[in-house]
Amino acid sequence: MRVVILEDSQAVSQRAADIICQTVHQQPDCVLGLATGGTPLATYQQLVDRASQGLVSFSQVTTFNLDEYVGLPRQHRQSYWHFMHKNLFELADFNLARCFLPDGLADDLATACDDYERQIAEAGGIELQLLGIGTDGHIAFNEPGSSLGSRTRVKALAEQTRLDNARFFGSMEEVPELAVTMGVGSILASRQVLLLATGSSKADAVEAFIEGPITAAVPASALQLHRSVTVLLDRPAASRLRRLAYYERVEQLQRQLEQCAR
Ligand code: F6R
Repeated sequence: MRVVILEDSQAVSQRAADIICQTVHQQPDCVLGLATGGTPLATYQQLVDRASQGLVSFSQVTTFNLDEYVGLPRQHRQSYWHFMHKNLFELADFNLARCFLPDGLADDLATACDDYERQIAEAGGIELQLLGIGTDGHIAFNEPGSSLGSRTRVKALAEQTRLDNARFFGSMEEVPELAVTMGVGSILASRQVLLLATGSSKADAVEAFIEGPITAAVPASALQLHRSVTVLLDRPAASRLRRLAYYERVEQLQRQLEQCAR
């Protein structure tokens, strides 16, 4: 796991956009896994800016989002379909026919979940999966206790998550109880993972998933088993890491190596 500590959240979004654009440059028809929430917003703005300057094109990219609330119509301001279309897809040159989200309105949710997994496999699997992390250590909506081998399915949101997301809805009562979410196993199947965390509210979860044991109590800790994970943190999110100085030294050496290779 490569742990990169950056000065502030703006540096996190710039570096995240660099990594995503590099993936798209190397493979213009790549498959990206995308996240919603407050954390990736500035990264999406970077991608929109770069696309509008002609520095990158997403026209051949396929995307799969991690999750969607159950029961919210697409046009609901808090549906993840709406979030992605208004904050990214419609602002850059994405082919909307290649932008997929789980269907939280399907009559048969279990079949829709299986279909989603099949669509990802048929697209060739996810090359780069972007993730945020919940204050309770969730990734996507895999709440504490989720099976570390889980695949796309319906999950009940934890009270902490509904409390955290109430800021988008106005009140906790309006936050849906259920979501369709890719599983931890679905995320582990992606070829590269890029996790972003900013702000002191994430510091405990960050310390637990990087330095704690692998446990379903902290679903993000399963990423310790993945061979290609980059974690981008601002200083507040990194503030509880015990091996902070070590990660910084490794990163310095890594940057030197990259410069030597140029
Ligand atoms: C969103 C998602 C969630 C968020 C997490 C952090 O698609 O999968 O796991 O990444 O809840 O949310 P923010 O970024 O709003 O703190």
